[in-house]
Amino acid sequence: MSTFWSVFVIVLVVAHLVGYAWLLWSTSKMPEGAKIGETTGHVYDDDLEEYNNPLPRWWLIKFYLLILFGFAYLALYPGLGNFAGLLGWSQTSEYDKEVAAAEERYAPLYRELASIPIPELAKNPQAMQTGQRLFGNNCAVCHGSDARGAVGFPDLTDDDWLWGGSPEAIKTSILNGRQGVMPAWGSALGEDGVDQVAAYVYSLNGRSAPAHLTQPGAAKFAAMCASCHGADGTGNQLLGAPNLTDNVWVYGGSLNAIRQTIRDGRQGVMPAHKDLLGEDRVHIVAAYVYSLSAKKDDPSATTGVSQ
Ligand code: HEC
Ligand code: HEC
Repeated sequence: MSTFWSVFVIVLVVAHLVGYAWLLWSTSKMPEGAKIGETTGHVYDDDLEEYNNPLPRWWLIKFYLLILFGFAYLALYPGLGNFAGLLGWSQTSEYDKEVAAAEERYAPLYRELASIPIPELAKNPQAMQTGQRLFGNNCAVCHGSDARGAVGFPDLTDDDWLWGGSPEAIKTSILNGRQGVMPAWGSALGEDGVDQVAAYVYSLNGRSAPAHLTQPGAAKFAAMCASCHGADGTGNQLLGAPNLTDNVWVYGGSLNAIRQTIRDGRQGVMPAHKDLLGEDRVHIVAAYVYSLSAKKDDPSATTGVSQ
């Protein structure tokens, strides 16, 4: 609020309160020369006479107290323009206090869980409930509440990893974030070149594509793509370059989606969560993510959640 409006509000509020007090005080006095019990001479509806009686004392006192309360409240709490109040109360400080209190309560629990190795933690149903809650609050917006992802956001429940599915790799992905850089090849390849390479990539997982496209496509792939995706197209987890042979797609496996990926490039960003969550919570949520795919080949692993 600008200073002008702040002062405007303060003057308006204080003037109102003072005005009410004055109104009360002035109307609670008997008019000059009037006597209690006498009528004012006004008559309504034939027989309704107005008497000259003072306002009841309890009623007056109640109103004076209310006005006093108003002044006291406005002195202590925010309400008068930009004046923050003598108590320094604010919604933000209340929120910070609640967060700090929650932190104090949960931090020792998180610390304890974070000292357990991820594969072991992933088998602890109670810890995985905590992990699922953390996932729901922090990750589900992008990866989906079932962690199955969406176009551009990888499925975390399968065993197909851009950056690696070991406990350490998963934790590193979450702690430091990841940035996939797939360059745009449209200008280097031209439309025909994009069609050829796209047909070749399309054929890599056993689907058929015309040979007059896949043959030149294979040569271009070896020259331009193999450095990241590998000569056989199985990818490179050090670069986050996906395996192109397994029919699991981050950006879609239709010929059109592949063409678009190659022509325009893709830059998937996984934000770093080290500062957002702290290392202990990242450890727990990493164990949760690990449990989602680990449970498939290790029946003793559990997510602790009946689905
Ligand atoms: C703003 C969206 C966003 C949020 C929030 C987010 N992620 Fe991600 N995450 C991504 C994207 C995009 C990628 C893929 C990065 C790439 O293209 O290389 C990714 C990648 C990952 C990977 C690596 C997957 C692989 O195949 O190697 C893991 C693990 C992961 N996220 C876990 C999490 C967890 C756990 C959280 C919550 C603490 C989280 N993410 C929150 C967008 C997000
Ligand atoms: C500099 C390394 C690099 C080069 C060179 C490269 N890519 Fe990629 N590519 C990546 C990365 C990293 C990703 C993942 C992008 C992301 O996560 O957002 C990717 C993603 C893709 C995808 C999407 C896969 C999916 O699951 O949706 C396709 C298709 C692809 N690349 C094809 C190619 C082709 C064809 C070429 C050569 C013309 C090529 N790439 C060259 C690094 C590279």
